[in-house]
Amino acid sequence: MESPMHPAQMVSVRPVRKTAAKPPVGMVLLFGLPGAGKGTQAKELSKMWGVPHISTGDLLRINVAHMTPLGRAVKNIMDRGELVPDSLMKEMVEARLQKSDTARGCILDGFPRTLDQASWLIERLTTLRVSFPIFAVRIHLSRNQLLRRITGRRHCSLCQTTFNIYENPPKREGFCDLDNTALSQRPDDTEAIVKKRFELDAALTAPVIEYFRTRTQFIEVAGDGPVGSITARILAAVDRLSLVQA
Ligand code: AP5
Ligand code: MG
Repeated sequence: MESPMHPAQMVSVRPVRKTAAKPPVGMVLLFGLPGAGKGTQAKELSKMWGVPHISTGDLLRINVAHMTPLGRAVKNIMDRGELVPDSLMKEMVEARLQKSDTARGCILDGFPRTLDQASWLIERLTTLRVSFPIFAVRIHLSRNQLLRRITGRRHCSLCQTTFNIYENPPKREGFCDLDNTALSQRPDDTEAIVKKRFELDAALTAPVIEYFRTRTQFIEVAGDGPVGSITARILAAVDRLSLVQA
């Protein structure tokens, strides 16, 4: 019997779209060091392509905010800038991927982050015989720019809008433009914790990027410049790859 096609193989043989007018459908894995702009870009792509943005960091923070059993288990780990155990991550992502809105694909932001998570995801897609393409997108930015972006990040806990005191400040200092809620800073956004997150990324997530570089459509984009320019770079790269395959 013929063995089921590896989802990564499907990527290289399935056309995604033939014209620029038709949105691609599939799974986009967003990679990049903390602060590279994964969340910012994921929101834009999600709106454009009509597939959900799934941020594992956001899902965990919602659990922490609501003090769920998962939230209680991960709060201190996250505050220290460490990675949450793979078993908890896979369980949480599995529950999210089972929702019907992911049928056409999704933007995965922050997952997979370890080789164990990566092979679990590929195995899951293979078992389900998922036939949509996978694009792995890596956003690059210099360490200095990353630090500035992270330490300047402020967040509205009510509407989830993200600001940056240096690059995208709110109109009234400390308050959300949309609902006037006081803005907060993530506990893991201090310089010391961010450096630890960089180290863990180099040790555990860099091999994951190599894993996908050879298995999926792989895109590297510069993460500097206005948000819209970076989105345009990603869209252009996806277009190019899709046309090559068409
Ligand atoms: P997570 O929430 O995923 O954090 P991260 O990967 O460290 O990335 P960030 O969210 O800090 O940065 P980002 O790339 O999304 O940048 P953003 O768009 O906000 O994970 C947090 C924690 O959860 C982990 O440490 C771990 O404990 C746990 N976790 C999550 N997933 C896990 C997993 N799979 N396994 C195990 N543990 C897991 O942008 C940053 C700032 O820059 C913002 O202020 C933004 O407004 C600004 N900005 C963005 N783009 C631009 C631009 N073009 N110009 C100017 N400013 C910009
Ligand atoms: Mg993020």
